[in-house]
Amino acid sequence: MTALLTVRNLSHRYNADVLLSFADVLLSRGALLMVRGPSGSGKSTLLHLLGGVLPITSDAGSVLLDGTDVGSLTSKQRDGLRPFVVGWMPQRHSMIGSVSVLDNVLLPVALARRVTGADRMRASELLRALEIESLAERRPADISVGQLARVNLARALAAQPKLLLADEPSAALDDASVNAVASVIAVYVSEGGSAIVASHDGRLRDSLLRMLGDRFSERSVAP
Ligand SMILES: Nc1ncnc2c1ncn2[C@@H]1O[C@H](COP(=O)(O)OP(=O)(O)OP(=O)(O)O)[C@@H](O)[C@H]1O
Ligand SMILES: [Mg+2]
Repeated sequence: MTALLTVRNLSHRYNADVLLSFADVLLSRGALLMVRGPSGSGKSTLLHLLGGVLPITSDAGSVLLDGTDVGSLTSKQRDGLRPFVVGWMPQRHSMIGSVSVLDNVLLPVALARRVTGADRMRASELLRALEIESLAERRPADISVGQLARVNLARALAAQPKLLLADEPSAALDDASVNAVASVIAVYVSEGGSAIVASHDGRLRDSLLRMLGDRFSERSVAP
């Protein structure tokens, strides 16, 4: 397994009061890292930096993703990482209310290029694996919070990204849904995808460890 992602000496300053430092990361293709830490410790911030959502300033360490120095990219180039290099599942997800669940899943692909029949098939398969296939034609406002969380994961995986960044993917889920989420992530990783999952959900951790064995590792977000 070769490294997809290398993170060294990374930090982020929001303002004079908030300086966050992060543990180094070496993530292989076909491997998952669960990032843990208490609320406010910087898990979401780390994912924002890795996914190109927040800029990495010149003195704030290095992120090498699939051969690209993320810190050297322009804002537009960083946006271009998503959805095909980075599959982005934010903690606070936002759906387009006027289109269907299925179209919301396909939205990141549609913004990047023409949606194909294969894209539609993959999106439907993800919804089926996440046990929300029957909701595909509903509007986001007409499904539950736990169902929306699974739509959010399907959306992050729809473009078959090289790296999945999933922020609290099991928040608001019951045990059966946690298992479905773990299973979809485990299949993606087993097929060669890489994932960083920020979570303090012991149920998700135990399921992923059981499903992934030595492809699973975990660490605190702080150095
Ligand atoms: N836009 C911002 N401006 C200033 N400070 C921020 C901003 N976003 C986050 N912070 C601060 O940075 C720290 C890390 O926040 P972050 O959201 O990364 O934590 P987290 O580990 O994801 O927490 P949680 O488990 O609650 O999701 C917190 O102290 C937070 O208040
Ligand atoms: Mg967070």
